Amino acid sequence: MRRTQAKDHSAAAPRSTPGLFPAPVQPEAVDADVPGAIGHALEQVLEDRLSRAVVLDARFADELAQRVARFTREGGKRTRSQLLWWAMRACGGNDSHTAVAALRIGAALELLQTCALVHDDVMDGSALRRGRPALHADVRDRYEDAATSERAARFGEATAVLAGDLALAWADDVVAETALDPRTATAVREVWSDMRTEMVAGQFLDLQGQLTGSRSPSQALRTAHLKSALYSVQRPLALGATVAGADGRTTRALCSAGRCVGMAFQLRDDLDDVFGDPRHTGKSCGGDIRDGKPTYLAALALARAEATADRPALTVLEQALGKQDLTPADLDRVREVLVRTRVRAEVEAKIECLSAQGLRHFDGALLDPDAAGRLRALLAAAAAPRAAQGPPARSHPVSPMDADACGAPEHRR
Ligand code: IPE
Ligand code: IPE
Ligand code: MG
Ligand code: MG
Ligand code: MG
Repeated sequence: MRRTQAKDHSAAAPRSTPGLFPAPVQPEAVDADVPGAIGHALEQVLEDRLSRAVVLDARFADELAQRVARFTREGGKRTRSQLLWWAMRACGGNDSHTAVAALRIGAALELLQTCALVHDDVMDGSALRRGRPALHADVRDRYEDAATSERAARFGEATAVLAGDLALAWADDVVAETALDPRTATAVREVWSDMRTEMVAGQFLDLQGQLTGSRSPSQALRTAHLKSALYSVQRPLALGATVAGADGRTTRALCSAGRCVGMAFQLRDDLDDVFGDPRHTGKSCGGDIRDGKPTYLAALALARAEATADRPALTVLEQALGKQDLTPADLDRVREVLVRTRVRAEVEAKIECLSAQGLRHFDGALLDPDAAGRLRALLAAAAAPRAAQGPPARSHPVSPMDADACGAPEHRR
């Protein structure tokens, strides 16, 4: 769908970001290396924020602001910002202003991801992130000699809270300072605001379900949708469509695709937590089992063991879920149960089904065919096993399965 009307960008020039992409950006040039262009946009934003941090206080800049910048610069698959870019392109965005806005909001998404991950690792007690010590663990280790280990650990967590807050503040600033015509700016702000609140709601439900030992598969899916599917896939696609000025029908098609693929993405993440290789995921294994996370995988395994009166399976699961000193042997027993009861295979099938269902929402949507192809490939890769990732894979063929069989939560907007 090619946009025909030129937008009025004069009404909302950036307030305090002189020098950000001063030269026209050619969308076709960005297409050749989207992660590189996002990295460049991030670099511009981070340099600006870091220079202000130095003026404020050198230690703050060195120990907190720099950490936020490093974490954001160095890591991640850049899934969300790439989805935003290709959604924008698929919706016909093809001028320099739109490209700059998409890159800046993509950079903001990566900063939001920094906030999400840094806080998540504190809440989940995860020590490894993107193949390195999690931010709170790194700060703790740095201060180990200066204080008791308990105080150093507490300081590490407090610093991570502040680091996440700073990343979120920077992300919000970048969105607010992006030049858009007033209508588009209002629409972007609305999606952005919803997305942040949805993620907080999902993270709360995740932790509350962990505390109360929730075993409900439907609640697990609802939590996965809120904590991850929305901010990881659905909202980035909505932001791309909004920036491009897509019509309602096209935006809805992309949102529906994002809802399904976003769910598949989180179900893959849950499987990876049990079966993944830390060398590929950059995260340690078994944290969800140790914490007794109310994932769909765990809820389905418990429900299956109960329904079939599979006492050995139930015993393994109930002993392992929430066991703080979970051993590798305990985790192996959980893996064996998930394989033997075919729960792993069932979750794999659900991921396939959701991915296929998601891509089917492209059918009939008025999308630019080349960009839509790139978007499909990216969406197909989002829920693929981590080891298979790298260059985006070709999309899966659309399965003839009944779409509703995947059981994704209702589309809310
Ligand atoms: C991890 O997201 C957090 C989840 C919502 C599962 P990603 O797997 O996209 O993490 P990075 O950004 O590539 O590190
Ligand atoms: C994290 O979900 C979701 C957000 C960061 C908002 P997880 O806790 O499953 O993510 P990982 O597995 O630690 O990356
Ligand atoms: Mg986590
Ligand atoms: Mg978590
Ligand atoms: Mg996880």
